[in-house]
Amino acid sequence: MMKSKIVGISAILLLPYVYLLLRIDDEELKRSILMNGAFSFVGFLITLRMIPVASRYLVLAICLGLILIRLALLKETLNPESLGIVVGTVFLAVVILFLGVAILFQPLNLIADSTWLVQYNSALTSICFMILLGFVDDVLDIPWRMKLVLPLVAALPLLMAYTGHTTIVIPKPLIPHLGFESLDLVFCTNSINIHAGINGLEVGQTVVIASAILIHNILRIGASTGNSEYQQAHLFSIHLIQPLFATSLALLSYNWYPSAVFVGDTYTYFAGMTMAVAGILGHYSETLLIFFAPQVINFILSIPQIAGIIPCPRHRLPRFDPQTGLLTGTKNGTLVNFCLRRFGRMYEQSLCIVLLSIQ
Ligand code: UD1
Ligand code: MG
Repeated sequence: MMKSKIVGISAILLLPYVYLLLRIDDEELKRSILMNGAFSFVGFLITLRMIPVASRYLVLAICLGLILIRLALLKETLNPESLGIVVGTVFLAVVILFLGVAILFQPLNLIADSTWLVQYNSALTSICFMILLGFVDDVLDIPWRMKLVLPLVAALPLLMAYTGHTTIVIPKPLIPHLGFESLDLVFCTNSINIHAGINGLEVGQTVVIASAILIHNILRIGASTGNSEYQQAHLFSIHLIQPLFATSLALLSYNWYPSAVFVGDTYTYFAGMTMAVAGILGHYSETLLIFFAPQVINFILSIPQIAGIIPCPRHRLPRFDPQTGLLTGTKNGTLVNFCLRRFGRMYEQSLCIVLLSIQ
């Protein structure tokens, strides 16, 4: 009742639109405002439709929270989850503050370059969006199919800036990028997340890959005398990867065995997205894929379960024996289980070291 009243009253807003149609002659201006209005109307419909859906998930989350509180009271300890929200927020603050200081004092000419700024800001928007979606996933536990689609949406700001155009009229050059680059983005964000489940692994792999990227960037800059565009691409990547490396290292000190905190999908999505963005804008996507080799193998091992050919349980963790503290590989198709089956039962910490050595 209230809902339809509110919608009805707000229809008064249509009056300015009538005025707009009648009085403003500039066609382009009119079209732009009306198109934005149409998009907003679709947003209205989606929000109207989504609130009841999200409400159901939120009720479930509250119930689960109450159950966890009871469990925590019984066990007296419970690892907090989603600590990625701290890393992601500090990362964004560092990157934004750096940009502000750099623009203010201009120690680097390249910051003043407007394409650089557009790319930097679109990279930040995409990463920020992914942090938000990761956090929502942690709180509401969204279905698996949605997890695959989300990075595609989050990638759009980056993909639009990447073509070098800031206008909407870019369908043609966007098509190949929407195919290739977005696949990179989707793969990287999800691949860290599914190579997971033991203490230190999610953050550990990120720290290893980020170091590899940093070394690669520095070597490339050193080797390219004179080619400033090439240097700039790698410089750009360094400016994103250094803060990622630093904040992840701090998280690792808490997440290493025995973990005091869990990182959540907030972190895995954020880390994957940041590295994919750096790889794309730094123009070294192929090299990045080599650094992601264990993730590629883990993904290939996972295909039968992800595609639903073999049943996929909610968690594909190894089996833990509380008597000995050893982990045993299960039949689930992951690199974690593969290593345990290949090298035998292991302690959680040893397994993490083995996997990071492979990385
Ligand atoms: C992904 C994996 C899932 C795996 C999970 C573990 C796929 C398709 N999904 O799901 O198989 O079980 O990651 O992260 O491959 N946890 C630990 N020890 C740790 C870290 C996490 O026990 O060191 C457990 C905790 O119970 C934590 C949960 O894993 O709550 C995290 O699960 P979540 O990140 O929500 O799982 P997904 O990313 O959906
Ligand atoms: Mg996860």
